Amino acid sequence: MKVGVVKESAPGERRVALVPEALGKLAAAGLEVLVESGAGAAAWAPDGAYADAGATVVSRDDLDAQADVILRVQKPSPDEVKRMRKGQTVIGLLQPLIDPKTAQALADAGVTAISLDTLPRTLSRAQTMDALSSQANVGGYKAVLVAADAYGRYFPLLTTAAGTARPANVLILGIGVAGLQAIGTARRLGAIVKAYDVRPETKEQAESLGAQFLVLKSLADASGTGGYARELTAEEREAQQNELNDHIAGMDIVITTAQVPGRRPPVLVTAKAVAAMKPGSVIVDMAASSLGGNCELSKPTETIVTENAVAIIAPENLPATMPTGASAFYARNISALLLHLVKDGALALDTTDEITAGTLITHEGAVVHEATRKLLSSPEPAESGRGSA
Ligand code: NAI
Repeated sequence: MKVGVVKESAPGERRVALVPEALGKLAAAGLEVLVESGAGAAAWAPDGAYADAGATVVSRDDLDAQADVILRVQKPSPDEVKRMRKGQTVIGLLQPLIDPKTAQALADAGVTAISLDTLPRTLSRAQTMDALSSQANVGGYKAVLVAADAYGRYFPLLTTAAGTARPANVLILGIGVAGLQAIGTARRLGAIVKAYDVRPETKEQAESLGAQFLVLKSLADASGTGGYARELTAEEREAQQNELNDHIAGMDIVITTAQVPGRRPPVLVTAKAVAAMKPGSVIVDMAASSLGGNCELSKPTETIVTENAVAIIAPENLPATMPTGASAFYARNISALLLHLVKDGALALDTTDEITAGTLITHEGAVVHEATRKLLSSPEPAESGRGSA
């Protein structure tokens, strides 16, 4: 079976689905790897490195014609869907619960689509395949570096002959995978870190990394299913925002990562809270997208500076800004899933297996993923959403 790695087409995407180091395991399973020329260039993986690792470097036309399975990071563009042929398979972060129409187009083209972002993440045997976690990890790390870069002072306490710099006060809102990595990174840079989440079990996790957990009087527990948070009621939201405002005012850096699957990200940093922050403070909103963000003033992909000189940074795709590290993790995730689906050198899709059933979106001309089918048949598709299964 021939597996193809394409050059990503999404603007600003610098990751690549397989790095040269990942090829050995695939070859051992009897898979032949084709790599589109230039696929890894933006992640500092030149064509020669793939060739040395045993891949065949080809043009995109040759890859489209020969590959049985195409590996990619982001979903294919409408043009790329048109180039795919019946019986071909595509594996990537296809986001069927955000963009079910692409899933429908792939089904119509007779393409089998397998998506890493609908993997049942809580299964322990799926952990090596969990690309949402690996990429959130990269994002949480990079968010702190972005904040530190925009901040005009030191993160650590520094005593020098020219004076003493006080440590930065950092608040992390949302203690999932990204938030935990952000806590660890900000602590390693020497900041004083506070953190908050609506899931009480995150208290111990945050504290074990050296953060102080904020306990809000107004809200005890908003755990949802599958390890995620539930959406708050309007009253809970208001109480949470009011109480958070006082904490936010004293912070130098606020990094927000809060998400609720299938819903708009909750607003945790209101315009009023931003107005009370000190000049030079920095907010990095990792949840910001066209659906909104955790900060009321965030503008996705932009950095704005408010009248009171607070920078609000809303990066769209932080993992793509660390392409080599992010691609290395992603390559391990996608290889693990591919090898799980392969028997005797060919794809063998057993839908009684939870991992296969969770990730299989389209097959034999139809959308087979239940949550994606529901979205397609509902008159008004849900606002967003990433599936836990
Ligand atoms: P996420 O990206 O959906 O959300 C990030 C964080 O925001 C979550 O911790 C959530 O509780 C928090 N949040 C949501 N609404 C909030 C609000 N109004 N105020 C404050 N915080 C709010 O979550 P992520 O990082 O994808 O995963 C969340 C959790 O799922 C993990 O920490 C873990 O417990 C579980 N998980 C378990 C896995 C496993 O068992 N292998 C794998 C991946 C995740």
